[in-house]
Amino acid sequence: MVAVIRQVNSLTNPEKQRLFGWGENIFGVETLNLSWRSKDLHFLLYSDGEPTSHVGILKHVITVDGESITVGGIGGVVTVPTAQKKGLARQLMQHTAEFLEHEWKVAAGLLFCLPEMLAYYEALGWQRVESPVLIEQPEGKLASPLPVMVLPFHTEEWLNRRVELHSLPW
Ligand SMILES: CC(C)(COP(=O)(O)OP(=O)(O)OC[C@H]1O[C@@H](n2cnc3c(N)ncnc32)[C@H](O)[C@@H]1OP(=O)(O)O)[C@@H](O)C(=O)NCCC(=O)NCCS
Repeated sequence: MVAVIRQVNSLTNPEKQRLFGWGENIFGVETLNLSWRSKDLHFLLYSDGEPTSHVGILKHVITVDGESITVGGIGGVVTVPTAQKKGLARQLMQHTAEFLEHEWKVAAGLLFCLPEMLAYYEALGWQRVESPVLIEQPEGKLASPLPVMVLPFHTEEWLNRRVELHSLPW
């Protein structure tokens, strides 16, 4: 198997269909009825010439106890079912983390995930934000109903401080 990672600004409809159209509610978040923000950049992992895994990213300034911190938001992490459990998402997540740290030079990665995915991201070095994270929705601010995880690239201790997203989640 030959794996190649490509970076694109947007996904084509066939790519979206292949990556996200293989099941109902593949991210398990539809019942939450949240409004989501689209990503600025996409990494596609091609395996034997086909796009099989995806990670979307965006750059955004959050506040932590009122201090502005630029983070790299990560979302839309997926591997098509036929290619799962081969380490492809892990490979793409590691590539993305290196890009965020060394190319975008943000302070940390930040993602939203279901509780059952916490262990998966912890194994990749991510940490759960213990304090509530305030997110924006069309009707106003609310505490994120989904766990939030960060991958700090510096050692600042900000995980238990007041985190405000100032954005829809991603
Ligand atoms: C989660 C997902 C991206 C993993 O992709 P992948 O390429 O198979 O991932 P990897 O091969 O790098 O890692 C597979 C590991 O993830 C674990 N995993 C996959 N889905 C999981 C889940 N829902 N809960 C807990 N662990 C899970 C597998 O058990 C496996 O663990 P192992 O290596 O110890 O056997 C893929 O299962 C997927 O697309 N799921 C649907 C979309 C989704 O839930 N995305 C995450 C949103 S936060």
